[in-house]
Amino acid sequence: MSQPKVAVIFYSATGTNHQLAQWAGEAAKVAGAAEVRIKKVQETAPQQAIDQNEDWKKYVAENKDFPKAELDDLEWADAIIFSTPTRYGNLPSQLQAFFDTTGGLWSSGKLANKIVSGMTSAANPHGGQEATLLSLYKTVMHWGSIIIAPGYTDPSLFEAGGNPYGTSVTADGNTPGDNIKKAVEHQVKRTVEMAGKFKS
Ligand SMILES: Cc1cc2nc3c(=O)[nH]c(=O)nc-3n(C[C@H](O)[C@H](O)[C@H](O)COP(=O)(O)O)c2cc1C
Repeated sequence: MSQPKVAVIFYSATGTNHQLAQWAGEAAKVAGAAEVRIKKVQETAPQQAIDQNEDWKKYVAENKDFPKAELDDLEWADAIIFSTPTRYGNLPSQLQAFFDTTGGLWSSGKLANKIVSGMTSAANPHGGQEATLLSLYKTVMHWGSIIIAPGYTDPSLFEAGGNPYGTSVTADGNTPGDNIKKAVEHQVKRTVEMAGKFKS
């Protein structure tokens, strides 16, 4: 089995998905990835809007130099793990804006057969956790990429809310619990293993 290159691409306004992405990056290394990149998509909201939310303002200030996702990260990776909060059941415009720059990669077939898996968060258990991952996976299907959802392939899924579309968190401003970390680790291990099989 080949060792895949893994890109973890996330958007976060207040840190939850940043934490999921960090755990995913660590898990990808443990699972045998050849190389791992963890990148945040560009913040596009006006500073005036950010300043109105103390948590968002603090997060942006603390992470302004975090490496930014580029199209090359998508082309480079064998497996891509996305982590994104919900926005009314949809993707945040920041991640959508990044996706809206992928036309060239898509039309030249460079996103076909990538292995992709998604994680998400919402403030409420029924606030759009599945819907957001379905929104993500719609784009991924148009790319011709291969979705690796966790399903119910491990007991950790049941202890992390039981979302078979991808690990999801009911975000309350605190660091997600150890149950979520374990679900992330399983999802990433499965994704890296599948990517290795497709690559070989
Ligand atoms: C404009 C906006 C819309 C949101 N819509 C929802 C929603 O429909 N349901 C929900 O449960 N949470 C909603 N949220 C809460 C976010 O999903 C939550 O803050 C996020 O998951 C935290 O992730 P982060 O810390 O990585 O930014 C919304 C937040 C914003 C700013």
